[in-house]
Amino acid sequence: MAGPKRTNSGARDAFTLIDIVRVVGGLLFLNAFFSWWFTSTSTWGYNGKWINTQYLKHRLTNNYVNLTIDELALYNGSDMSLPIYIGVNGYVYDVTASRGIYGPKGSYSKLSGKDASRLYVTGCFMNPEEYTYDLRGLKEEEAKQELSEWQQFFEEHPKYWLAGYVQRPDPVGEPPAPCEHIKFPGRRTKNAGN
Ligand code: HEM
Repeated sequence: MAGPKRTNSGARDAFTLIDIVRVVGGLLFLNAFFSWWFTSTSTWGYNGKWINTQYLKHRLTNNYVNLTIDELALYNGSDMSLPIYIGVNGYVYDVTASRGIYGPKGSYSKLSGKDASRLYVTGCFMNPEEYTYDLRGLKEEEAKQELSEWQQFFEEHPKYWLAGYVQRPDPVGEPPAPCEHIKFPGRRTKNAGN
């Protein structure tokens, strides 16, 4: 019968495919065993987007959404079958990984399903009119700086990603009245969400 040759002592002198499968399988098993042992997870404690099937699918298909404001509103976390999206400066981010923050019961649920760019600049959470992308009346430099920092936060976040864009018609009517701006007290770096 064909197969790896055996030496006089009976030992084989070549690896077969089945040997390689055994070794790789054994290593994977040991990796999973020790990962569970030390971290109680099978991924050594990592739960970022690189093991999120939705993100991997998005990366493979390179598919970016292009939503209207009304369509974006559907992604506010109330429909569990849809991802949660937030809009910042016309960009749409997938923040489904933090349903506890952006879902219906979350502390920042009001940011979900809309482009509330103005609010990211002013921090005037109590004023419903602030949940808009209308930046009229704000200082251009301040708005640019704040929005670019928030975009960087969402783009570089370990669990969120850029999902696409939202079409924003030119705002009409009176812009929201000025309010006293509140600054974000935390650190908006890529590790801030960890
Ligand atoms: C311009 C003003 C502000 C904006 C736009 C803002 C926005 C946000 C956003 C988007 C998050 C979620 C970050 C993530 O996904 O991990 C967050 C988290 C948080 N913010 Fe604010 N924030 C502002 C001001 C403040 C202020 C003034 C406070 C407190 C005095 C505060 C307290 C917090 C806390 C405690 C969290 C963590 C929430 C959690 O993990 O559930 N924020 N903020």
